[in-house]
Amino acid sequence: MTAAEPTIDVHVAADAWRREQAEAARASLTDEPPWLDPVWFYDEHGSELFDAITRLPEYYPTRAERALLGAHAADIAAVDADVLVELGSGTSDKTTVLLDAMVASGGLKRYVPFDVSEETLRAAAGELAGRYPSIDVHGVVGDFHHHLDAIPSGGRRVVAFLGSTIGNLRPDERRRFLVDLDEVLDESDLLLLGIDLVKDPARMVAAYDDATGITAAFNRNALRVLNGALGADFDPDAFDHVAVWDPEESWMEMRLRARTEQVVVVPGMAAPLRFAAGDELRTEISTKFTVDGMTAELGECGFAVESTWTSPNDDFALVLARPRC
Ligand code: SAH
Ligand code: TRP
Repeated sequence: MTAAEPTIDVHVAADAWRREQAEAARASLTDEPPWLDPVWFYDEHGSELFDAITRLPEYYPTRAERALLGAHAADIAAVDADVLVELGSGTSDKTTVLLDAMVASGGLKRYVPFDVSEETLRAAAGELAGRYPSIDVHGVVGDFHHHLDAIPSGGRRVVAFLGSTIGNLRPDERRRFLVDLDEVLDESDLLLLGIDLVKDPARMVAAYDDATGITAAFNRNALRVLNGALGADFDPDAFDHVAVWDPEESWMEMRLRARTEQVVVVPGMAAPLRFAAGDELRTEISTKFTVDGMTAELGECGFAVESTWTSPNDDFALVLARPRC
């Protein structure tokens, strides 16, 4: 069988979406303290740096999740889904573990990678279309805060949201995301969520502040992407990467700290941004969960948990949940 070209729907090219993103960034940069949405990390270079993060010895989540997916692929395939949707699919690297099992069990008809990073999605979709000629690969370049209704309908769908990307949403955003997702899912669909669990702070800090500095480069890349998108003149090298565990909020927080005084011009902003030496810009949170906490939160957002699978050392968990409708 010859692989068909994947279909790719692009929703983020719309000027309205780009204007909204730029507007939101100019607003968050003037908040006290200033912060940025994680969407700014993931241009093509950012996606490559993230891919390098997943292979770092300190970054345990990817390995833990891959092992869990391998151990429970048959259970997930037994759901007998027609469609696997993956939000924030990136390179879809771990997804092959699921696709192998779901294709072998015979029922899978379609894979829908959904990501905001167009180049990375196109490359992944092309590769997977070649590797799995029996299924239709239908990519969606979209923002999962705005375009969930762009998920193609039809068939029994498993929506995977892996890599603990849900932990990168702020609590209010996370709830809204889950409620919105519940809205677009049918009764027969399922959510497969990968969540990182609370553990020894030293291991969590090392996972977000590796010895070789790849995570630092990833963090600084957000400023490069902003310069490109907004015409700002951040000097990424003038900022240090900072990763701290916040036990109150149960999240790792990534920041960029100005080494020296910085004056940054951002077109469209009334005044330049000023950073004194030591001032910080918050770029990311990575929330760490408990299985009980996530089960309760899913319940409040309209989902009933069907199964949970946890790593042998409690590092990471997969949660399979059904919209209650
Ligand atoms: N699922 C992969 C990649 C995780 S990195 C893994 O587990 O390793 C997070 C991914 O989410 C990136 O590919 C990034 O481009 C994507 N992403 C971030 N914000 C997004 C948004 N608002 N909408 C859609 N995708 C987003
Ligand atoms: N979803 C990943 C996580 O929370 C994203 C990530 C990994 C990340 N390392 C990072 C984000 C470093 C910012 C900085 O684990």
